Amino acid sequence: MKKINMKEDHLQIYKRENSNVWQIKIKLPNKKALRISSRTKVKEDAKNIALHKYNFFSKERIILDNNSEKNFQYKKVHLIESKNLKKNEIECFLMESNKYIKFNKQKIKKLNLLKGRTVFNLFFEDSTRTRTSFEVAAKRLGADLINVALKDSSINKGETLFDTMTTINSMDPDVLIVRHPEEGISKKISTMVKACVINAGDGSHEHPTQALLDALTIKKKFGSFIKLKIAICGDILHSRVARSNIEILSTLGAKINIIGPKTLIPIDIQQSNIKIYYNMKAGLKNCDIVMMLRIQKERIVGKHFTNEKEYFKKYGLDYKKLGYAKKQALVMHPGPMNRGIEIDSKLADDVTRSLIQEQVSMGVAIRMACLEILINNKDKYGS
Ligand code: CP
Repeated sequence: MKKINMKEDHLQIYKRENSNVWQIKIKLPNKKALRISSRTKVKEDAKNIALHKYNFFSKERIILDNNSEKNFQYKKVHLIESKNLKKNEIECFLMESNKYIKFNKQKIKKLNLLKGRTVFNLFFEDSTRTRTSFEVAAKRLGADLINVALKDSSINKGETLFDTMTTINSMDPDVLIVRHPEEGISKKISTMVKACVINAGDGSHEHPTQALLDALTIKKKFGSFIKLKIAICGDILHSRVARSNIEILSTLGAKINIIGPKTLIPIDIQQSNIKIYYNMKAGLKNCDIVMMLRIQKERIVGKHFTNEKEYFKKYGLDYKKLGYAKKQALVMHPGPMNRGIEIDSKLADDVTRSLIQEQVSMGVAIRMACLEILINNKDKYGS
């Protein structure tokens, strides 16, 4: 085997007897050796590629794995509500997510930043995106993630939520991620435990990490929120996503149009920075983004919603109604979607107009940033 040391034993290129192609070995301090093919037979090209890879991994990984305490603009140990988040605090989450967007595109997605930390997913309500993206985020940062299967827990034997939380608190977790149908429950839990608490959706109240990932998706596409007009359409009454997004997007400087049937728009939503419309044509005029919401059948009592076909005709987003917005307007939806009820299936899958898959991808990055920031703050300021 031919072997050339380029940075002592931290960087080598080598060629096996049975191969013409040079291989690269990168060994960073306290890390397992990384072996990558240079995909070239030419020694000088292989050396250049090796140096490029070494610089990338040494800089990126050392920055990402640097677990000395940081001074983030967001200084709290819990993330419960978007309401009252200041602009610099929101921007802190968005900025810290940037490095994870890049990191998540790498082949190897594993850091030691939260090694030895324990994160609990406590989902008292169904979830696909939020639960799995927090799991992916925690594991990519090196934390141990415990999914508590609440359907099989002692809650079913009559244990109170308070007792469940006290029990989990005694295991010294670092972060509790809580989804629950009761409004305000994450706030209550945060007063009972030493761990950081993240509200992953409490009834119709708030879902702050969803709104942060939506803001990140918009920032990646448009760069700035100033001059943006964003329509939030559908079942506003039951939507924690709408409430959190109204707070975050308007704090960042966007103009918000709320659109939906009267029965699905809450009366307490009147704010100076938002406009309310009861028809799509008027509400979508000049909008850059059309954010559709799921009809929350499980929270709707019959009187609010009777006919899905009629609803789609008036409020379901299809290409024709999207035409009322700006020419290049883009579509968002937090998921899960009711295809053919609030959104046309073809439009939802049209990657030239729909940001729905991008939102899911941004969800992992934003949740990595949230875990990093909250645990950092817990270490720095205490709980
Ligand atoms: N957007 C959202 O919260 O999706 P899940 O219910 O699947 O987590």
